[in-house]
Amino acid sequence: MIENCLSKAQVINRYLPATLTAKEHATAFAPSNIALCKYWGKRDTELNLPTNSSLSISLGHLGSHTQISHSHSNIDIVRLNNKVQDPQSSFHLKVIAFVNLFRRSQTIGLIIDTRNTIPTAAGLASSASGFAALMLALDDFFDLQLADQQLSAFARMGSGSASRSIYSGFVHWEMGEQLDGMDSVAHQLDTQWPNLRIGLIKVSSAQKPVDSRTGMDRTTATSNLYQNWPAQAAADLITLDNAIKQRDFHAMAACAEHNAMSMHATMISAWPPLVYWLPESLAVMQRVWQLRESGVAVYFTMDAGPNLKLLFEQSSQALLETEFSQLDIIVPFGD
Ligand code: DP6
Repeated sequence: MIENCLSKAQVINRYLPATLTAKEHATAFAPSNIALCKYWGKRDTELNLPTNSSLSISLGHLGSHTQISHSHSNIDIVRLNNKVQDPQSSFHLKVIAFVNLFRRSQTIGLIIDTRNTIPTAAGLASSASGFAALMLALDDFFDLQLADQQLSAFARMGSGSASRSIYSGFVHWEMGEQLDGMDSVAHQLDTQWPNLRIGLIKVSSAQKPVDSRTGMDRTTATSNLYQNWPAQAAADLITLDNAIKQRDFHAMAACAEHNAMSMHATMISAWPPLVYWLPESLAVMQRVWQLRESGVAVYFTMDAGPNLKLLFEQSSQALLETEFSQLDIIVPFGD
């Protein structure tokens, strides 16, 4: 990790107009995403610049809708799923800190209204779609007319994985190398995969004991296995890119599962150890491996939490629905 050379505001200010104009209101949507090659580790914690490139799949219409309007006072109101958030809550503070980067010294009070369409039972993180939708709404509200690459770079400053949620479909986030991170941006791959399915298996809804941000920092600082991670992620990206182009399900999904397990190996070897799995997570993994032994084309991926995301194609859907009663199925390339 390098010392921060530039603050978020220093980078963003270079791209903002001298005088800001605000519309009456603006709305935007951004999809949630699941990484097939994970982002794990930062070279700059202020700008969320990663130590490896990553690749994800966006979840269609599942994500965050954000609306920005004037509060007609100097007070900011932040709502999440129709509930006003306590101004001291971390959600309110994070949203307002991000908005302030674009509002700068203007004293207009705003209402920021976010509604997540991610199934609440699914155990999916919403910070990626949340910051991407907020960035898109700010761009419209202040008429910034930023290019997609700039939107991706600025959403990344809210949460790294939000850089990918600016786009739908398969998305590649290039780690970049510039100090200001303006080359650390995502782009969309042009492959569609209508038969692809993602099955969410939620084994726990408890808040994770260590968030991804803290988990990444602890892993990079203390895990001896971490030094191999950037090279593995780089190799996995090439495999994934090729497999996606050829719509080779086994090559794509096997690489995604191996990548997730390798990321978890770096976490487990951190100190104190980071074990996000619960006994139920391991039971699902073992069932997936048994099913594969018996010829079913199913793999999984996992993020910094105990829940699993199964990867399969439509042809295996009926069988997996009977195997896993709690399966929440997503069609990433559906309508
Ligand atoms: C394991 O994007 O939530 O889900 O940049 O600190 O906000 P911050 O982290 P975040 O980390 C996501 C980690 C991951 C892998 C991934 O989505 O690539």
